[in-house]
Amino acid sequence: MVDSLKKPQENSLKKAEFEEIRPGIKAPANDTILTPRFYTTDFEEMAKMDISVNEEELKAILEEFRADYNRHHFVRDEEFAQSWEHIDGETRRLFVEFLERSCTAEFSGFLLYKELGRRLKGKSPVLAECFNLMSRDEARHAGFLNKAMSDFNLQLDLGFLTKSKDYTFFKPKFIFYATYLSEKIGYWRYITIYRHLESHPENCIYPIFRFFENWCQDENRHGDFFSAVMKSQPDILNDWKAKLWCRFFLLSVFATMYLNDLQRKDFYASIGLDAREYDIHVIRKTNDSSARVFPVVLDVDNPEFVQRLDISAAANTKIVEIGKSGQLKVVRLLRQIPHIANIGWQLLRLYLMSPIDTVPMRQVIR
Ligand SMILES: [Fe+2]
Ligand SMILES: [Fe+2]
Repeated sequence: MVDSLKKPQENSLKKAEFEEIRPGIKAPANDTILTPRFYTTDFEEMAKMDISVNEEELKAILEEFRADYNRHHFVRDEEFAQSWEHIDGETRRLFVEFLERSCTAEFSGFLLYKELGRRLKGKSPVLAECFNLMSRDEARHAGFLNKAMSDFNLQLDLGFLTKSKDYTFFKPKFIFYATYLSEKIGYWRYITIYRHLESHPENCIYPIFRFFENWCQDENRHGDFFSAVMKSQPDILNDWKAKLWCRFFLLSVFATMYLNDLQRKDFYASIGLDAREYDIHVIRKTNDSSARVFPVVLDVDNPEFVQRLDISAAANTKIVEIGKSGQLKVVRLLRQIPHIANIGWQLLRLYLMSPIDTVPMRQVIR
């Protein structure tokens, strides 16, 4: 009796899990401040950039891209050819969401790099070819993730996504700060999951994670490319404005990841990771990497840093809960305002924390 009452309810829950625009094609997730974005920039300004002071390094990176080390890497093997119905309920929902967010982020890189490759062609040949080859990598990454979604009977319509998403405009220097960080944080996220599952293979619930080791090397090379581009434009790394912007972008990228991941801690738990520890590790590593190019980085080892992120994550949880409460929109918004203000306040305090000057650090290392 209990069972027969339960089943229809379970079925209806399963059906209502995802909104579809066509059978098997998932509607893109609604945009919020925390969802992956699509970018566009001033192509003319980028085409006019003189990269001669660091052209050697950029050409060396171009050679690496041409070598195409992962040419044969993204091939689905027999381990994918099985039913994934045993990943069900909330784990399945979180898993598909993880694939979708990753696919959207990779695809966003593809679109931006592809367009840059096209617009810089004939005007800035080294950069144009680098962007084309990076778009090749991102297309593989996005395609591989989208194929993985099809194992869960869903896919993203990437053409529809291209047309339906809003594009955020950033001047070239902001594109460089943001993409450098997203490539490096991507590298640390992938490699940390890979290393964890390497030592805990029992948690590897789906074969895509086995591909992360070589995959993240693409992201690392992409990050190195943006680092070399920034070094070719010393004015975007040297003055007082650069220091303020680097702090801003570091904090935005870290806080966005932290709030997103703690909201989805059950997903990380399903692969045996503690989302909070995972994020703190990724933040530390990305901050260390950034110290090689940014004039300042954040004092992430100061206990206050994580404390304020934790307060923000708790406030974000409240905002999400209120959002789902089914009350009138205006009531929800009124109840959310104090929590939004709290996050704003915590982020402001984090932004104002004394940063770490990296220039003297680099001189010591040398
Ligand atoms: Fe990628
Ligand atoms: Fe990348």
